[in-house]
Amino acid sequence: MYKLFGTLYIPGDKSVSHRALILSSMSTGKSEITNLLEADDIKATIQILKLLGIKIHKRLDKWIVYGNGTNGFIQPKKDLNALNSGTTARTIIGAVSSNPINCRFIGDNSLSKRSMSRVTTYLEKLGARFKLTKNDYLPLETHGTDKLIPREIIIKKPSAQIKTALIFAGLNISGNFSIREEVLTRDHTEKLLKYLNVKHKIIKRKDGSNSIELKGPYEIYSKNIEVAGDPSSAAFFIVGALIIPGSKITLKNVMLNPTRIEYLKILKKMGGKILVKKTKNISGEQSGNITVSYSKLKGVNIDKSLSPFLIDEYPILSIAASCATGETTMNGVSELRHKESDRIKSIVLNLKKVGVKAKNIKDNIHINGYSSLDKKICKIKTYGDHRIACSFMILALLNKNIEIDNEKCVSISYPKFKRDLKSLLKK
Ligand code: S3P
Repeated sequence: MYKLFGTLYIPGDKSVSHRALILSSMSTGKSEITNLLEADDIKATIQILKLLGIKIHKRLDKWIVYGNGTNGFIQPKKDLNALNSGTTARTIIGAVSSNPINCRFIGDNSLSKRSMSRVTTYLEKLGARFKLTKNDYLPLETHGTDKLIPREIIIKKPSAQIKTALIFAGLNISGNFSIREEVLTRDHTEKLLKYLNVKHKIIKRKDGSNSIELKGPYEIYSKNIEVAGDPSSAAFFIVGALIIPGSKITLKNVMLNPTRIEYLKILKKMGGKILVKKTKNISGEQSGNITVSYSKLKGVNIDKSLSPFLIDEYPILSIAASCATGETTMNGVSELRHKESDRIKSIVLNLKKVGVKAKNIKDNIHINGYSSLDKKICKIKTYGDHRIACSFMILALLNKNIEIDNEKCVSISYPKFKRDLKSLLKK
């Protein structure tokens, strides 16, 4: 039987990679980005920025971006294809809405079923104009202007993509613009603004809400950016080491932004032996090393209030829950229905296939850990969802009869996932 053993450097964070590219494009001058994630979602962002007139190329291990300023996107001659990437589409729609150009955004089948009005309704409050398919979906046209009117916007739905779309638009809006999120979400955009010396204020209120106060238009001076390792990618190996007897691994260069590592707290509560050692600050983000050893896990109740901080980790947490004793409940996870697949469905259906007692009641997922896996051959249906594929590839380490219908889709966020996983497999 194999175990996971050794050390691994985790590739660049997906959320920060998108933001580093877009903010460098909106800066004036040349930026060099190191450890940029080279995955399909990020390629979509690069392609779109190029069509918007930004010169981007790779030299040795650095990505070089020649920014055109916050009002510098030029009229694209082609449709902007965000492929599978919600972050690409939603945040760049914000960025171009305050530039005087018209764009048409398209995406793959999965992205074309995901809501875009969740972003455009907020931008419309500033005077931005859009034409959406069936009032909600791609293909979508933006009719931009550099004369959007700032006002106080209150974001009801916890979503870093909505917040970031508004911030990107705000960089080219003249006047005081306040973006208030009722529930805190990942704050990489704000951290990068600070790193890039973009003057803004953040007001944290007692009720948990947060306001970002901008006063544009801005001139951002280009600065080199390094991307820290992706904690959501690290999560797959962490759970792998926790569930495979004899494992012990250390993951290096992982971003430790508190809005992204709530899953470590959950796994520790389940009994996971996890040690985190902070190392250095990388372009405004704390990073560090994480050491994990095999542990006997027990089920936990996960509160709804944590869902914005666990949103991308529920698939891999469901694998940990399957290997734990007792029941795990993931409460209030309705937002999972709007990801790359309907993740409530893709988690529950696939766990059942491998013999785990899992069910969905209203917006909650209940998982009862198993004592022995069904050894009959079963094929996991990923629905082309990269996080479902990676999660079940981890579970497959415990059961050779698990097959994945589409391993290739891991390239959306982690093209070298299989290679890195193999590098840790030891007898
Ligand atoms: C992301 C925000 C989250 C997350 C997605 C990346 C981002 O989406 O699920 O993978 O980079 O801002 P929501 O904003 O829809 O919660």
